Order: sequence, then structure tokens, then C-alpha cells
Amino acid sequence: MHAVGIVAAAGSGLRLGAERPKALVPLAGRPLVCWAVDTLRDGGVAEVVVAVPAAELGAFGSVLPPDVRLVVGGATRTASVRAALAAVTDPARPAPDAVLVHDAARPLTPPDVVARVLAALADGAGAVVPVLPVVDTTVTVGDDGVLTGTLARETLRRVQTPQGFGRSALVDAYDRLPAGAELTDDAAVVRAAGIPVTTVAGDERSAKVTVAHDLALAELQVRG
Ligand code: CTP
Ligand code: MG
Repeated sequence: MHAVGIVAAAGSGLRLGAERPKALVPLAGRPLVCWAVDTLRDGGVAEVVVAVPAAELGAFGSVLPPDVRLVVGGATRTASVRAALAAVTDPARPAPDAVLVHDAARPLTPPDVVARVLAALADGAGAVVPVLPVVDTTVTVGDDGVLTGTLARETLRRVQTPQGFGRSALVDAYDRLPAGAELTDDAAVVRAAGIPVTTVAGDERSAKVTVAHDLALAELQVRG
């Protein structure tokens, strides 16, 4: 199966608070985006397109291998993935069977997770996401901070990336999405188009780097 990877790396990383875009922040001396690209390739993705901030094309080009394609991302993650998807469906190139969308902010995703997503697609899934169980009691609260209920934890999952899709299903779903729509992940986009999304096991090591503490944990993880 010919799979192309999209890495969403066009965010600014406000919550991390670094002096450069989050995807360029080093982990053990290498920018987060480089780790994310390597994971996709090591897991079996043939080709990678990275969505980056417009002002940072040069900076990303200087740290990524020359065969990684760069596209200018948008103001939201949804817009960035949409831009990368347009590059994936460039009629001048062979159309891939599958597209995997990954966050640059998940540098330490084990390649096994990528392989599980690809295997589920090869088995016929149209859309697949890696998930983890919820271990904490999870509640709802009102505006006043008072508990309003407890959710059935057994039915809840935390969703990670890379998320995998049949190429035409993902392209159709993005085509149907209204121009300014902003969804937090790609599974939500295909679900909005009525496509069922299946799950495979995620991995705790695939945690997203959001705040400074997450980066400190990732550094510890690399040191093993
Ligand atoms: N992303 C993107 N384009 C955007 C916003 C986010 O490609 N306009 C990417 C980020 O680069 C990141 C992933 O989507 O790899 C997940 O987003 P998040 O963790 O929220 O990253 P940021 O938006 O950069 O961080 P923050 O929300 O703290 O500013
Ligand atoms: Mg964000």
C-alpha cells in the first residue's frame, strides 16, 4: 500500500512558550518535526509532506531531508492539513492509496503505532485512529465548577496521531467541510462526512508536547 504522511507543523506553540515555532524546538538536539517525520518513515510511510508556518519555510527546509515536501500551513490545524492534502493530491504525482496525518508535536511516537495504523487500512478500514484508555475518573462540571456527572470511563478513549485514511475518503471529507471549519483532528472531519472510524492501540510514548513539562518528560524518555 502506497501511503503518504502529512505532518501538521504550522502551529506557533503558544502554550510551550518557546522563542520559535514548537515544531522547530529541539528534543535531544533535534527539532520535534524531524522526530515526527522519522517515525512516519520508520513505520512504513513512503513520502512525507510537512505543513509549516509561511515565515519559516527556510528554517524547516534547512533541518529536514531534501525529499520531504514543505507546504505553507494555515491559521488552524484544519487549514494546515487541508493545504497539505492539496499537495498530496497533486495530479502530477501518483495518487497514494492512504494518507496518514501526524502531529509534529508527537515526536516520540513508536513506529509500531504507524505500522498498526497502516495494517488496519490494509485490512480494509477507511479511517483509523490510535487510542488509549482513560484511567482517571472523568467528570463533567458546570460553569460554577460544581460536578454535574461522571462519565462511563470504559467507553472513553484518548485519541492520538498518526490517524490513517483511505486517500479519497479523506479528500472527500475535507472537500465537504465548510471553508472556515475548525476541528481538532482529522477523524472528526471524516466522521462529519459519515465515515466510520476504527481504532488501534496507541502508545503512552506518543504523548503530545503541549506545555514545557511535556518537553521535559520527552527528554527523559529519550534518555531512557
Ligand atoms: N498545527 C498546524 N497549524 C496550525 C495549528 C497547529 O499545523 N495552524 C499543528 C501544530 O504544529 C502541532 C499540531 O497541529 O503539531 C497540534 O497542535 P497544538 O499542539 O495545538 O500545537 P500549536 O497550535 O502549535 O500549539 P498552541 O496551541 O499551544 O499554540
Ligand atoms: Mg494549537
